[in-house]
Parts: sequence; structure tokens; C-alpha cells
Amino acid sequence: MGSTARRHLPDAPFLAAARRERPSRRPVWFMRQAGRSLPEYREVRQGTGMLEACLTPDLACEITLQPVRRYGVDAAILFSDIVVPLKAAGVGVDIVAGTGPVVEHPVRTAADVAALPRLEPDGAAPVAEAVRLLIGELGETPLIGFAGAPFTLASYLVEGGPSRNHERTKALMHAEPDTWHALCSALADMTLGFLRAQIAAGVDAVQLFDSWAGALSERDYRELVMPHSARVLRGLADAGVPRIHFGVGTGELLGAMGEAGADVVGVDWRVPLDVAAARVGPGRALQGNLDPALLFAGHDVVEREVRRILAEGSAAEGHVFNLGHGVLPETDPDVLARVVDVVHAVP
Ligand code: CP3
Repeated sequence: MGSTARRHLPDAPFLAAARRERPSRRPVWFMRQAGRSLPEYREVRQGTGMLEACLTPDLACEITLQPVRRYGVDAAILFSDIVVPLKAAGVGVDIVAGTGPVVEHPVRTAADVAALPRLEPDGAAPVAEAVRLLIGELGETPLIGFAGAPFTLASYLVEGGPSRNHERTKALMHAEPDTWHALCSALADMTLGFLRAQIAAGVDAVQLFDSWAGALSERDYRELVMPHSARVLRGLADAGVPRIHFGVGTGELLGAMGEAGADVVGVDWRVPLDVAAARVGPGRALQGNLDPALLFAGHDVVEREVRRILAEGSAAEGHVFNLGHGVLPETDPDVLARVVDVVHAVP
């Protein structure tokens, strides 16, 4: 697989903020900006399964570009999913509409872990191709690649699907720590390979989603999860692209998630950004943190909240405006367009 020369985008506000330099304006993008809230997305997805769409380079490219065209956001995020490398490696997994990822044979024993397939370089080829297409289309807009962190991927594999309490996952972590670590180690290898393939193809930044890490105590996070996420993040250090690390409900984990090797720590809406800046400490930027549910509260509330977050975000060494979690499917795209306008208008 050939590697593309890294783009030089000295004026991109997103990259400047992520590097804690002075951006020309406050950058903004939205987690899940590509997807079901956009009519043009629903149109191009008709008749194509979610994972099939992710593994079809020209379709993934088009869907990635849709929110950039519509909103003028400061970054594109690759249209993909955290289970794509599992699928590409040959794990029986599908995304069921309205449910999320569902795993055919859950992974619960040492033998299940040993039987997990590896991600061969060819497996990432359609995603790398989508990245190359995007680099040719995006102009000066940076492209964010991403992957799921070992804990969040492990939760889907162990539970067999989405889980409210992660009880089987926590049982495995504590009752069979060797099996747990073997599973996370295999997933860290897969994630690292997948992100390296995206970087080689030209992404300008990466986000490691540990969406469900907030279900853990800080003690368990540090002992049983952080070493694996740290191996992924540190394994990308030499690539020189900003590394964003995000989870939901991670107020107690913000310091640890930064220490795991993030340049930018994603924050949900539960912790104000000035408080988050103190928890994360110096040397890191923040990303966040408008509650996606408040996008349904009307213009005045949205504008007030955006201004509050911009003010609180000024306490951080760098701030990338985002939601505290992904865009909800029923969100009115015009409200997101207005958020971008307000963020860009505030000096
Ligand atoms: O715009 C973007 O942010 C890029 C696209 C993106 C998707 N998934 C597309 C998607 C990203 C970044 C993800 C990451 C992802 N996938 C995460 C981490 C982020 C988070 O939300 O915490 C997680 C936990 C998943 C697993 C997953 N995939 C879930 C929970 C769901 C929702 C299930 C549902 O249908 O309600 C998915 C499906 C999914 N991933 C959709 C999209 C656009 C919806 C499926 C569809 O459009 O048919």
C-alpha cells in the first residue's frame, strides 16, 4: 500500500487549534455530521447496507463530503464505523438499523479470543481508497480518520451488541483478566493497523472513540483499559497528526484519557470546558461540548449555549467546537448550519 505525502495545511483552523496554536477562527465540526440527519445522505444510502456503504470508496467519499458542503465545517470526518475493521478482518458483524452493531458469535473465552482474525493490510484497502479520493476533493479542509478504542470494541464483541450495563464485559475484565488483556491487545493491534493505513492514505488527524469508557471507574480504566488505548495512541506519535480521544460520560476519566496519549481530549456536555481544562491539565487541547439534545430547544437557547461554550472553551490551550456526542438522527440540519455560523462569527 503506497503512502501519500502528508498535506501541508498551515491555515486550517482545526489543525491549529488541535496543535494549541492560534487559529484564525474557532474551528467547528460535529461528531456524526455525516449520516441520518441529512436528506442527501438518506437518498444516496437507499438500497445499500451501512457496512457496504463504508466499504464502497466513492460512496463513503460522497457521504463524507455532504456535511462539508452543507455546513462549511472546519473538518471532514471519514464516513465509516468503529466496527468496519472487524468486518474487514472477517468477524461476523453487521449494523442493524435502530440497534447498532450486532456480532454473530460473541467473544467470551480465551479460545474465542485466540480465534479472532487479524486485519490483513488488504482489509483496509477500500477505506484507504476512500481517504485518497477525499484528499483529492477536500481542498483546504482537513480530514479526520478514526477508529474505535479497544474497550468500546471489546464491549460490542463480548456483549454481542449494544449494552446498557456492559455486565459481561466487566465480568470478563475482572474474572479473567488474562483473557481480557489478550482480547484488548488483539484489538489494539487491529486499531493501530487501521489508523496507520488511514494516515498512510492521507488523513490529517485521527480520533479514537472510546464511547463507552464512561461506564468504568477511573481505577478500572487505568488498570484494564488505558494501557491498550495508550499503545494505540503512542503508536501513532511518530506520524505527527493530532490525536483526539473521546468518550461519553468520562468526566472522571478526562485526566487519564489525556495521559493515554491524546493531543485533544473530547468532552461531553456534563463537564464545562473550563473545568475540563483544569482536569486535563496543560499541554492538551479540548473538543466539545454542546449537548446534542439542546439542538431541539430553539434558536435562542442554541445560540446562548454556543456562546457559553465558546467562552468556557477559551480557558483551554486550544478548543475545537463540537457536540458532546453525535448528531441525533432527528436533528434539523438548518440548526447545525446556524451553529457553525455563530461559532465562526464570535471573535
Ligand atoms: O459523521 C461521522 O461522525 C462519521 C460517521 C460515523 C458513524 N459511526 C456512522 C454511522 C462515526 C464516527 C461512527 C462511530 C461509531 N459507531 C461509534 C463511536 C461514536 C459514538 O457515537 O459514540 C460507535 C459507538 C459506533 C457504533 C454504532 N454504529 C452505533 C451505536 C450505531 C447507531 C445504531 C442506530 O442505527 O441507531 C451505528 C450505526 C451508524 N454508524 C450509523 C451511521 C451513519 C447509522 C446507520 C445508518 O445510517 O444506516
